[in-house]
Amino acid sequence: MLLRRFASGLVSSRKSNSAVISRSDLFQGLRCTRWTSHANSSTQVQPVPVVEADIVLVRDFIYSALYDENQGYFSARSSAVGELPTPINFNSLEGKRAYTQYIDNLYKRGDSSWFTPVELFQPYYGYALAEFILRTHSSSNPLIIYEIGGGTGTCARNILDYMKAHAPRTLYETMSYKSVEISGELAKKQYQKVTKGDENRKQFSVERRNASDRSGWGAAKKESCFVIMLEVLDNLPHDLVHRETSRSPWMEKWVLERTDGEVPGLPVEISKPLQDDLIIRCLEAMKGDPAQSRSVTRTLKNMVVKLLNASELLWIPTGCLKLLETLHSARPNMTLIASDFSLLPDVRLAGEGAPLVSSKKGGVNKDHATYLEAKGHTDIFFPTDFSVLQKLDHLCSAANGNTKTSRRSSVVNSAQFMDLFADTGKTLTRDGYNPLLEDFSNTKFYISTPAGGFKSDVGTQSTGSHSI
Ligand SMILES: C[S@@+](CC[C@H](N)C(=O)[O-])C[C@H]1O[C@@H](n2cnc3c(N)ncnc32)[C@H](O)[C@@H]1O
Repeated sequence: MLLRRFASGLVSSRKSNSAVISRSDLFQGLRCTRWTSHANSSTQVQPVPVVEADIVLVRDFIYSALYDENQGYFSARSSAVGELPTPINFNSLEGKRAYTQYIDNLYKRGDSSWFTPVELFQPYYGYALAEFILRTHSSSNPLIIYEIGGGTGTCARNILDYMKAHAPRTLYETMSYKSVEISGELAKKQYQKVTKGDENRKQFSVERRNASDRSGWGAAKKESCFVIMLEVLDNLPHDLVHRETSRSPWMEKWVLERTDGEVPGLPVEISKPLQDDLIIRCLEAMKGDPAQSRSVTRTLKNMVVKLLNASELLWIPTGCLKLLETLHSARPNMTLIASDFSLLPDVRLAGEGAPLVSSKKGGVNKDHATYLEAKGHTDIFFPTDFSVLQKLDHLCSAANGNTKTSRRSSVVNSAQFMDLFADTGKTLTRDGYNPLLEDFSNTKFYISTPAGGFKSDVGTQSTGSHSI
């Protein structure tokens, strides 16, 4: 079953009438003409002066919608990441129907829009990560773990509990677990949860900052370490580019926050010729042999687009590129463990790699047809193209002075990863249905490590998508 962050029963039944579509023309210097069209009304053509200072790149607009100190989705709502009142006792549930009903009730009771896998399958999901780390960590180094975007702290708590119970005493005593969290509310929650009962105080610390900001990491450290990111890539800002035909030059989208016009306050998109350095680098990195870098369906689609000379609209992971550049520069010998959605159902926005834009009000979830009205109350999350992620990761490593073969990486389905490292008996329902292995089939793990970084019993290969 394909899931977003919601439980099975809630996925496809929600419908929304909101449909605001905006288009724009070529930005020319400080002024431009823009066209906006609104659902249920004929297309409006209104030349309006635009001041450059009023416009921001799509990624900056998304960043502000999600992380602005006062009105960002993750900053303004302490319940942005759903928390279970108590861990689920899977063994006591009859089967899939009972599991789905259980989750539905949790959603009805709380004001969270979604639960992430590490929350739903606690503590076993976190334990599986801990087991992977224990099996791959070389005991000659101190164990250092960074977690980026740790949400409510469940992953950190579960990993530290597992280490305390299963790792050699000195490994647990000397290890450090450093959380880097952009939201003040969530950083606070993490510290409380992980140190509850006066536990893990020596091991755990949390820094409230943007992990993409290179200055926050201080001088580069060559230490071996693990960097965990669970469902963080999907909330990283993206940019939007388009071109009229496959031979036309790419254009980049900007957003103008309006205070005038037919619908006051509703922002509109503006197009400019490609000029942003991060967008240019991201597009360059995504290029290359499509047969190597993309799925068969995607490759065929690209061929058709080229043959038809059709227009293209592409969401590109500039936020991910920025974060990877920062991480490779700051901790070049990290082992990266990232899990995220490879595919999202029910997306209403146009463009390849488009996000789901979703909010919850009065207990009801709503999908939106635009990201332009998302401020504070709305989640914006993207699918991850894991082959692009792998490319960006290897590229950032190479840009840091390493050779192309200096990293080994692997893309695996979450079920494969869990099969190898989780105690799957603990998430089994009575009739044999196992949600840890059968739900969230649209999520994957990306593991990347310096070549030679793994102990020999659990290895990866140097490029491509492989089993661990
Ligand atoms: C979807 S939540 C996932 C939370 C948790 N990892 C989980 O799986 O339950 C995304 C998390 O990443 C954090 N985050 C997003 N961008 C970040 C950044 N640039 N630096 C640090 N934290 C970030 C958010 O505040 C939030 O805690």
